[in-house]
Amino acid sequence: MKKTVPLIVGNWKLNPVTLSDASDLAKAIARKQKSISEPYVAVAPPFPYLAEVGKKIAKSSVQLASQDVYFKNIGAYTGEVSVLQLKDLEVEYVIIGHSERRAMGESNEDVRQKVLTVLKHRLVPIVCVGERERDDQGNFFTFIEDQIRNLAEVLSVAEMKKVVLAYEPIWAIGTGNTATAEDVKEMQIFIVSVLTRIYDRPTAKSVRLLYGGSVTPQNATELHKEGDMNGFLVGGSSLKAEDFSDIVKAVVQS
Ligand code: 13P
Repeated sequence: MKKTVPLIVGNWKLNPVTLSDASDLAKAIARKQKSISEPYVAVAPPFPYLAEVGKKIAKSSVQLASQDVYFKNIGAYTGEVSVLQLKDLEVEYVIIGHSERRAMGESNEDVRQKVLTVLKHRLVPIVCVGERERDDQGNFFTFIEDQIRNLAEVLSVAEMKKVVLAYEPIWAIGTGNTATAEDVKEMQIFIVSVLTRIYDRPTAKSVRLLYGGSVTPQNATELHKEGDMNGFLVGGSSLKAEDFSDIVKAVVQS
């Protein structure tokens, strides 16, 4: 995966509520991406739809992502999904530590275990970080730094280089309150500087950064061009093939 090629991931969250709608959405997205190999595009449907969505996108360049994983591979863990099962379904990316999961009790330790499991099995972890709110003193920067340091404690240089970090400020998720391109650029510089202090500059430069939080076809151009990240993690706007494809086009053209 070349970092110079942007990555756009659609996180469907708990949508849609029927297999048939999931299948239609996957088909529509695949059709729109059929002849496009760059940027990289992936969709993360709910677990029960992974196999079907995988079939619908198989002949396109769209890749499969999952919204979570468990850190144990097999055994008595009711309700969990293993990385081996994801791998068998040809999932390529795994979203880990989404703020909606952290709000349900997922800890930094859980996130670390999941990232290590996913890396061990050669899938790409997309690790979410993001502050609940912004304050005038800039304490939110410390919060983001702590989330990154917590992860970095268990990752070697080689492992960190394989991680995708998604900056998703919680106040911007599903609210329509997108971060400004300036906020995104500032965070991009900050994250690179944190990674440089922990590792070194080449490592920091090779970690792919995504922005997520109320990305739409209308704001994607400016956010991508001026925010200077390497792609997007899209929620609501990934549920309409037209909007999702317009975001991909905006990235291509900006
Ligand atoms: P929205 O695009 O709906 O704000 O969601 C962002 C998100 O949480 C993606 O993971």
